[in-house]
Amino acid sequence: MEKMEKKNIDWSKLGFGYTKTDYRWQATWEDGKWTEDGLITDEKLHLLESACVFHYSQSCFEGLKAYTTKEGKIVTFRPDMNAQRMFDSAKRLEMPPLPVDTFIKSIDEVVRANAAWVPPYGTGCSLYIRPFMIGSGPQIGVAPAPSFTYRVFVMPVGAYFKGAVKPLKLALSDFDRAAPHGTGNIKAGLNYAMSLYPTMEAHRNGYAENVYLDPQTRTYVEETGGANIIFVDQDNNLVVPKSDSILPSITRRSLVYVGEHFLGLKVVERKVRFDEVKNFKECALCGTAAVLAPVGLIHTHEGDIVFPSGMEKMGEICGKLRSTLTGIQDGEIEAPEGWIREIC
Ligand code: PLP
Ligand code: COI
Repeated sequence: MEKMEKKNIDWSKLGFGYTKTDYRWQATWEDGKWTEDGLITDEKLHLLESACVFHYSQSCFEGLKAYTTKEGKIVTFRPDMNAQRMFDSAKRLEMPPLPVDTFIKSIDEVVRANAAWVPPYGTGCSLYIRPFMIGSGPQIGVAPAPSFTYRVFVMPVGAYFKGAVKPLKLALSDFDRAAPHGTGNIKAGLNYAMSLYPTMEAHRNGYAENVYLDPQTRTYVEETGGANIIFVDQDNNLVVPKSDSILPSITRRSLVYVGEHFLGLKVVERKVRFDEVKNFKECALCGTAAVLAPVGLIHTHEGDIVFPSGMEKMGEICGKLRSTLTGIQDGEIEAPEGWIREIC
């Protein structure tokens, strides 16, 4: 393939936001089967006023990234995991799961078609890929839609949190983002609707994000609105909260592997009481958008918890986790088998 001319973008100024790129990829479910429209150029969806998604929030989505490696290849990171998670989300929401192979094909094709938009190696930016599925058919009684639309669009992005590696201030939320036995463990749009008000409250009070507690007992740490949370204890063990109502983050599962196999850390995955948090040495958020973002402080009604790693720089273990993960993603460090999918 000919070397593609990159778009004229000031990568150093790129934040995390929408940019219209050239192609998107679509498939439609009707009469019991998926039909692939493939690559299209129109960024708009023409929908019925009665579309189920508008009334009963029948929607789920994914988020993954494409990177340019040191060798100049465009790759995606563990897209099979996103395919499986979207499959699980769709099933829980009474939507027809998209076959894993179709999901992977859609990602390959939309990234290849938009190769000119993939930020170059070394910019710290990447191509964010947003697959989603909605109940697009008419539905007025409370029931699943009769037809569905799956679409993937992409955009170049920089850091999700301003300052990227500057420690964040979080707030312990009085609200819940999920319900016990609810949909916290899938990537349903409705979870994010639940979190919009508490998130804006956090922002209005000067915090980047909320920490949510388990909705059943409000005792254990769950996650934030858009990322899982991890800790490092006084013995340099990686402590990873476990819960049935948090999103199974692909970044978090990858960091657990990186911690154990690349850094020789002991990883403890368990329920974490919020009252233990003050004893931890380091804290970070992790996710596709967040990558690994250090946390310096968590505000509570009883006062602030300030981690020993402080507000100026990332903790040592978190720094190693972050640089190993990003090194794997941009081809500086050899990846575990099956983690990197070469697109072009
Ligand atoms: N938790 C929530 C609520 C999220 O929205 C995300 C983002 O996808 C994550 C965690 C991180 O998941 P992943 O690492 O798979 O992107
Ligand atoms: C992602 O990390 O991909 C997400 O979907 C999180 C969202 C808050 C941007």
